[in-house]
Amino acid sequence: METMKIKHICFLTWFLLSAFSVTNAIPKSDIKNLCRETADAAFCRNKLNTDPRIEAARDLGDVLVIAIQVNDAKTHINSVSGEYSGPNGRRRINVCNKNYDIALARFKAAWENALKKSFAEANRLTGVGNNAVNDCENGWGRGGQRQKSPLTLYNTNVTKLYGIIRLLTQKLGIRI
Ligand SMILES: *[C@@H]1O[C@H](CO)[C@@H](O)[C@H](O)[C@H]1NC(C)=O
Repeated sequence: METMKIKHICFLTWFLLSAFSVTNAIPKSDIKNLCRETADAAFCRNKLNTDPRIEAARDLGDVLVIAIQVNDAKTHINSVSGEYSGPNGRRRINVCNKNYDIALARFKAAWENALKKSFAEANRLTGVGNNAVNDCENGWGRGGQRQKSPLTLYNTNVTKLYGIIRLLTQKLGIRI
């Protein structure tokens, strides 16, 4: 009799816990399907699923907040900047340094807007940040002989994140 009761309580607890997690967290399969629609599904899954905040994400708005990430390109810019002593290299590395300041500020403001559910504004701000990063990349072929951009991997990641952000913004019903 006593054992039955305990079993019953255990079952009830399990049932409530699983019902709670099912109704509150966004299913992993939704993330997988979302990422399938992006340019680099593996990158998208990696960015979203390895972020500890994903466990508490309830909807696509929460996922958008998680997708608005910045990388440490500034550290990289500082560490390679000594290698660029010629006028073109100096100018280009300075453009990237300044543009990453812009991108970081816009992504931060975008994140704050996404938290407030101002998704259209969040999307717009990340677009401005992404443009700054594209300009950094294109600068290496502008106003003189082309040089290999030392920031391509960083810039590509920002652009891929922006692609995820745009897709999420559209899925949230905002026309862009
Ligand atoms: C770009 O993103 C990938 C996947 O998350 C990561 O492994 C890599 O370190 C990132 N590269 C840079 C330079 O941030």
